[in-house]
Amino acid sequence: MALGVVVVIAVLCAIWVLRGGADAEPLPGQPLRTLAKAKGLEIGTAVRGDHAKRNRAYRQTIAAQFSTVTPENEMKWEQIEPERGEFEFGPADDIVDRAREAKQKIRGHTLVWHFQLPGWVRELGPRELEAAMRTHIAEVVGHFKGDVGVWDVVNEPVSDRGGLRPSVFARRLGEDFIALAFRLAHRADPDAKLYLNEIGAEGINAKSDRLYEIVSRLKRDGVPIDGVGFQFHANLDGLPDDHVANLQRFAALGLDIAITEADVGVPLPPDGQKLDHQAQIYEQIVRGCLTVTCRSLTFWGFTDSRSWISETQPGMGAATLLTDKLAPKPAFGAVQRALGG
Ligand code: G3I
Repeated sequence: MALGVVVVIAVLCAIWVLRGGADAEPLPGQPLRTLAKAKGLEIGTAVRGDHAKRNRAYRQTIAAQFSTVTPENEMKWEQIEPERGEFEFGPADDIVDRAREAKQKIRGHTLVWHFQLPGWVRELGPRELEAAMRTHIAEVVGHFKGDVGVWDVVNEPVSDRGGLRPSVFARRLGEDFIALAFRLAHRADPDAKLYLNEIGAEGINAKSDRLYEIVSRLKRDGVPIDGVGFQFHANLDGLPDDHVANLQRFAALGLDIAITEADVGVPLPPDGQKLDHQAQIYEQIVRGCLTVTCRSLTFWGFTDSRSWISETQPGMGAATLLTDKLAPKPAFGAVQRALGG
């Protein structure tokens, strides 16, 4: 008898684990995607495919709350073409499949970036690097054609001082690598919306001024660029006072604007006052987005249990809308209110 009970319990536990654990507790109020849709806005999050595969509540929350998803790492060069000519689309395909089931759009992130590059790319000379870009972009954009409607074609090309970041692309090919990447992406999927994505360019500063010069020239030269992504990795220092004016000057070039990686890092340990302050900053991000009529607003993760901030910035964390147990923080309600909820 006892052995039978133990076996039954063991089987039930195994089923529980295979299902990915408990269901998500429903979050209060209207889903963010419903509220955002009423404002003509896509609202999304970065997703981690490995965690989504294992965790039912994580998957359910993504599907319920967001209308667009960005694979956090699965489409980066290091992960998707680790060896030259060898493409690993599986992890990204899983995210695309789940997004399709949840009727979500997908932001492809990212085709050309100086970070998380496989070692074999860094060693290439100019001609070989251009050839590698041609193959990489054609294969990746071609593979996801029809599923990925927006691409971060080039990520973070500008240095903090307003120079061209000395990536292998800039060193080998000069600033023209940017136009080349956009032209290759457009050739691979003429229907995709093509963005240049930048960190730390939210306010008017040396970096955003250089970014403005670059995208102005791309537009002048007829390069197929559709939009600019501003990442909005913030903390309790708040947003630059001129962030709306900055986004508006890019919009005035006839470019779409997206907030692509919003999070608000908090000095640990979090307390009520810090989380209320965080909520105010999230509310400012949403209101700024609505003021400049962003195409989309994406959070860089939505649960404190999966955030690059706590993983890479000692002493910082609690950067997202939900606790590590997927419970709403003040920031979640602030975003709902800013969206009219
Ligand atoms: O997948 C490997 C795993 O096999 C290995 O065991 C583990 C050991 O360290 O590393 C895993 O890869 C990590 C990857 O995240 C997936 O978790 C990398 O080391 C780690 O560097 C990588 O960090 C990502 C970071 O970009 C660097 O690519 C963060 O999750 C991601 O949030 C962050 O996102 C970037 C955007 O793409 C661009 N804008 C800035 C933003 C924050 O840095």
